[in-house]
Amino acid sequence: MRIALSLGLLALFVTAGYLRAEDKPKYTIKDVMKECKPKGVIKKVLSGDSTDAEKKKVLELFEALAANKPSKGDAESWKKFNDPIVAAAKDVVDGKDGAVATLKKAANCSDCHAEHKK
Ligand code: HEC
Repeated sequence: MRIALSLGLLALFVTAGYLRAEDKPKYTIKDVMKECKPKGVIKKVLSGDSTDAEKKKVLELFEALAANKPSKGDAESWKKFNDPIVAAAKDVVDGKDGAVATLKKAANCSDCHAEHKK
């Protein structure tokens, strides 16, 4: 009886975890930030020396970042930081002139951290 109950609870937890994973963004804020560090793909794209696949990956990362909820700061401010970043990342993928410079300016590490990093 005890075992059956535990198994039932386990199944419930697994299902709940699965359901939650479904609406979660593809990458967490931490995942994205890892790619901002010196060896990360975001850093590489910002340096201007990257492949098309890397640019697409960065767009995907920033779209996931925008879909996350920061643990500090309000949603409106988060959107204000992320909308221009996602727009600039799209332009980088499209190969628009000056897009990398725009993305660099938009993805301002310290401004966003001041508002949203705990
Ligand atoms: C749009 C907002 C935003 C931008 C732009 C941003 N960050 Fe962050 N960063 C965050 C948030 C929010 C956290 C806190 C993460 C958490 O609470 O899980 C964070 C945390 C970090 C961390 C710590 C990660 C950890 O594992 O705790 C590093 C390193 C980092 N950022 C690097 C950078 C670098 C380098 C840049 C610029 C190239 C950058 N970030 C740009 C929002 C941003």
